[in-house]
Amino acid sequence: MLKIAITKGRIEKQVCQLLAKNGFDMDPIFHKDRELLIETKDGLSMIFAKANDVLTFLEHGIVDVGFVGKDTLIDSDFHDYYDMLDLDIGKCYFAVAAYPEYKTKEYKRRKRIASKYTKVAKDYFSSKQEDVEIIKLEGSVELGPVVGLSDAIVDIVETGSTLKANGLEVVEKICDISTRMIVNKVSLKFKKEEIFQLIDALKEEK
Ligand code: PRP
Repeated sequence: MLKIAITKGRIEKQVCQLLAKNGFDMDPIFHKDRELLIETKDGLSMIFAKANDVLTFLEHGIVDVGFVGKDTLIDSDFHDYYDMLDLDIGKCYFAVAAYPEYKTKEYKRRKRIASKYTKVAKDYFSSKQEDVEIIKLEGSVELGPVVGLSDAIVDIVETGSTLKANGLEVVEKICDISTRMIVNKVSLKFKKEEIFQLIDALKEEK
């Protein structure tokens, strides 16, 4: 059995559709209710978890393969895995965003930056040698400038419609994001064939 952890939600849907297109029997997944672990006829044992937990399961050798967004990989301190495949789905980017006046306004204090991705935000502003205060928000990060908690945000932009709807705009793009297939280093030694079969299957449908 190849053990796989998939990020719940959008990534789960897209990856399972990709596998189904390539002949994997994904019906048990498509018809699941609240089950969190499902074994398919094709020898896949799949669990569905929050993005950061996908990394935790992979780090501890509970799963061989993880499907997770590059955003989660960049924001994590865990890097001991192989990033084997860019699935070219779930494409979006990290950006600094704010109200238009942010670019020209002079701040006489440290700027406040809200983000769910505090490591990304910290690394970005450090690279610019800007000393800012990072404020962690768990979601709807756009609220930061809207309610006056922060001057700007570091967040994911996909279509840009959330920014637009709240009068915000991209100040600077940080980097591109897409869904990745990552592999536990020990698993690649012992389950090489199964892992490459899965990669080939996913590549064909790219
Ligand atoms: C993400 C992100 C933005 C939005 C961007 O949030 O944090 O808020 O999507 O997408 P758009 O550019 O297409 O508008 P998500 O919907 O995952 O929820 P969250 O804000 O609660 O994290």
